Amino acid sequence: MRKKTLSLVALTGVTALGLAACGGGDATEDGTAGGGAAGGATMRLALNQTEEHPSYIALDNFGERLSEATEGRWDIDVFPNETLGAQQEALQLVSDGTVDMAIVSGTQLENLDDDFLVFNLPKVFDDVEHQMSVIHDEEIVGDLYTSLEESENLTVLGGFTQGARSVYTTFGPVQSPDDLAGKKLRVQESDLHIAMAEAMGASATPMAFGELYTGLQSGVVDAAENNEVSYWTQKHYEVAPDWSYTNHLVGLDYLIINSDLLAEMSEEDRAIFDEEWTATYEEHTELWDAATQDAIEQATAGGATFHEVEGGAFDEALSALADEFISTESQQALYDAARAAAE
Ligand code: GCU
Repeated sequence: MRKKTLSLVALTGVTALGLAACGGGDATEDGTAGGGAAGGATMRLALNQTEEHPSYIALDNFGERLSEATEGRWDIDVFPNETLGAQQEALQLVSDGTVDMAIVSGTQLENLDDDFLVFNLPKVFDDVEHQMSVIHDEEIVGDLYTSLEESENLTVLGGFTQGARSVYTTFGPVQSPDDLAGKKLRVQESDLHIAMAEAMGASATPMAFGELYTGLQSGVVDAAENNEVSYWTQKHYEVAPDWSYTNHLVGLDYLIINSDLLAEMSEEDRAIFDEEWTATYEEHTELWDAATQDAIEQATAGGATFHEVEGGAFDEALSALADEFISTESQQALYDAARAAAE
């Protein structure tokens, strides 16, 4: 596997929030994490979604159940809307212990260890059920999820689905790669997703999630791709009203935690934590379909139109990406294990 190390990012905004010394440790009087060994803490969790999003709802419930089951020793405070920084910053902050946990897209982890790239490929997962069975199968992901502990002090705990992602545009629906020619399609910060946008006919513009509404509104980009839930909760439909069902990818978010903090949990509390986290991603998966239906209805009422795309017009270009990007044995092994689980 190829690894890169996190470079320092500007922490100015975060220091201004007074969070610099809040990573793992004893619960302090105000209940937040302090320094030293942890008998417990209120863990700060960075999220880039709104409070209506299933990820916020499931994580907030996680904190409540965790606190109850550990008699208040451990709790989670979820900070939505990128208040602790966009995902790239959040990753750095969890690594250095300034923030305890974060939800980050798979694309962010691909930049640290290219084994993670495999699960960011279009077509690697057939659907949400398949994806969830792969990414919580210890035999497949055990080594992957601990692979960043030594270098980055980060442990991956598992994930939430991002559902199927499709393209939405400011300029009318798309039916084939030709319709995206000369158009700027916002992608997450990932070499793979830049290539994906190009394979779909567009020119790629990597950008943080929180900048996208303005990006679409101002014409910095002409299109983006996501799931219906984010399309609605971020109000992107207001500025990019045509949704075209390219269904090019089942996306994946990971829950990451500072490894030192995790190691400080007593065995008993760690067992409770793991059990409640399992209940959390199961709740998230259960909420997902209804949230998607609701998002479609709300966005439609707000002026969006959802268009079907005929006959797999984007599929051929996308299926070439696996061959192009899988370059190591460990990547191939993950890919094969994921595909075998679909059969
Ligand atoms: C989804 C995903 C986020 C990600 C976002 C994006 O909403 O859940 O984790 O940041 O897509 O496109 O950036």
